[in-house]
Amino acid sequence: MSRIAYVDGVYLPRSQAAVSIEDRGFQFADAVYEVWSVFGGRLADLDGHLVRLQRSLRELAIPMPMTRASLLIVLKELIRRNKIYNGMVYLQISRGVAARDHFFPENSFPTVVITAKSVDFVAAAKKAEAGIKVITVEDNRWGRCDIKTVGLLPNCMAKEKAKEQGASEVFFFDRDGMVTEAGSSNAYIINQKGEILTRSLEANILAGITRFNLIDIAKELGIPVIERAFSVDEAKVAREAFVTAATAFVMPVVQVDNCVIGNGKPGDIVTRLRAAYIEKALKSAI
Ligand code: PDD
Repeated sequence: MSRIAYVDGVYLPRSQAAVSIEDRGFQFADAVYEVWSVFGGRLADLDGHLVRLQRSLRELAIPMPMTRASLLIVLKELIRRNKIYNGMVYLQISRGVAARDHFFPENSFPTVVITAKSVDFVAAAKKAEAGIKVITVEDNRWGRCDIKTVGLLPNCMAKEKAKEQGASEVFFFDRDGMVTEAGSSNAYIINQKGEILTRSLEANILAGITRFNLIDIAKELGIPVIERAFSVDEAKVAREAFVTAATAFVMPVVQVDNCVIGNGKPGDIVTRLRAAYIEKALKSAI
């Protein structure tokens, strides 16, 4: 039996069900989901999952795109069309489609995808009779920032917070108040001695390609680079600060929270670094 999915108001065969490649769920994991069990064709714990869905959406400032009544009609209709007796319904709501940008888009409309499938409750019962084995794994969820994954929702949320406060980037700091990296770039300060400080790669940060090049360029220019953690407090009294990324190149930072860096204008060292980076990038571009 061909399975039917629901995408943004339309029921269609699963093979034809699709969302845009610019959907925020696909680009940033900027989406929420719920799963209901279906017992004898009826939804279990309907309200519990609905309340949590509303909470998840609220926390991410994604508007609920359907009323409870219309969502319930769709859930039931999908169960009916897929002839589910025992099974599950999966619902995903993303922030919608927009050109890729960490900041929340202004005019997107949430994407709604719902699928349903049968589950063999007899097999599940057999499994329950035997019980299952587990292994222990350290809980480091959201803790592998060294992998360039598209799981960027925390970065998007942080950058959106920056935007709300008239800033365009964030310096993430860890439990010890030490800066890790930026929302979509690596973070640096230049101390009063003229040394560049940036977190070492042992930390939970992305090994930026621009970072590697920047360090080489700094060495060529005779500017010392120390790969060690610096604190938020150190950043606030830095001589200069900047971030690097493939699209930002070397971007001067002139304010950290309420503290103006230097005289509030890009400093001499970062200006030299930016020019040298762009020159080298232009020369080496293939
Ligand atoms: N971001 N750290 C984070 C969290 C990033 O998202 C990026 C890049 C970097 C810098 O990496 P690189 O120098 O290799 O670009 C560091 C890209 C540009 C983005 O998400 O658009």
